[in-house]
Amino acid sequence: DWTPDSFVDETVSALKHQLKDDKVVLGLSGGVDSSVAAMLLHKAIGENLYCIFVNNGLLRKNEYQSVLDQYQGMGLNVKGVDASARFLDALAGESDPEKKRKAIGRVFIEVFDDEANQIEDVKWLAQGTIYPDVIESVSATGGPSATIKSHHNVGGLPDFMKLKIVEPLKALFKDEVRRVGASMNMDKALLGRHPFPGPGLAIRILGDITPEKVRILQEVDAVFIDNLKKWNLYDSVWQAGAILLPVNSVGVMGDERTYEKCVALRAVESTDGMTADWVNLPYEFLQKTSNEIINKVKGVNRVVYDISSKPPATIEWE
Ligand code: XMP
Repeated sequence: DWTPDSFVDETVSALKHQLKDDKVVLGLSGGVDSSVAAMLLHKAIGENLYCIFVNNGLLRKNEYQSVLDQYQGMGLNVKGVDASARFLDALAGESDPEKKRKAIGRVFIEVFDDEANQIEDVKWLAQGTIYPDVIESVSATGGPSATIKSHHNVGGLPDFMKLKIVEPLKALFKDEVRRVGASMNMDKALLGRHPFPGPGLAIRILGDITPEKVRILQEVDAVFIDNLKKWNLYDSVWQAGAILLPVNSVGVMGDERTYEKCVALRAVESTDGMTADWVNLPYEFLQKTSNEIINKVKGVNRVVYDISSKPPATIEWE
């Protein structure tokens, strides 16, 4: 019978046997899959696991620092690389959703390759690939591995792609990954984290990206997500986030007319992201959250709630 404990024992001993004294590099995304894969490898090979966590400048508010601290607290050998400026430069002036994804994928590979090249004599690339990623080769599960997969067939291979691949979660579904993480005593909040796309807030800022728009969306998203947690709604939602729309709308504040940004809130229920229903959040929650966003976040004067299901809408707007 499969149990999380037996999976951990068997996988750790298989990894020890397979990897011996070799060095392994792994890209952490902050998400569940790459984090659980890292913990298994850490148990097997300790300091020979070299983790890289890249800040693309498109993470949630304060997430880079808090996730990095959390990884360090777990004892992982992790290097944080703040490449925000490089990503934002590559995105400047770009509005097309697929071109934004491509630019982010390209810069990620450049940054990761630079870092992997600094690890002397590294032999393996570890990935947090899970079973649904294997069966739907077009991965939409987020994180560095998804980014790598959709780009590694374009042009010459970066050096790190010549490494041997190790994927300890390849046979597991998401809920099994969470159970394996729990059996290694990993943090509940980390294991329960919503899926988040690899390109991050770039595909939730419709149109072109500027540092100011990133700031606005981070603030809005933080109010929404914090409130979901406060109201005990976070765990019953599969994924939630805010979208910055490329329109200004007229409002009024005091005696002044305003002409500011509109944001959409989105929360969905799903099991695998392939189909999704919008969540019937309590009106009182929406009312309080909307007021808080408009009062706190400079530059926003209107909030709407997305009541579209997938299909025909997708979860992300881009
Ligand atoms: P859609 O919008 O296609 O999203 O309904 C389904 C799931 O995939 C995530 N998603 C992505 N993940 N890179 C990723 O790593 C992407 O380009 C990407 N686009 C969408 C989305 O957040 C949802 O969980």
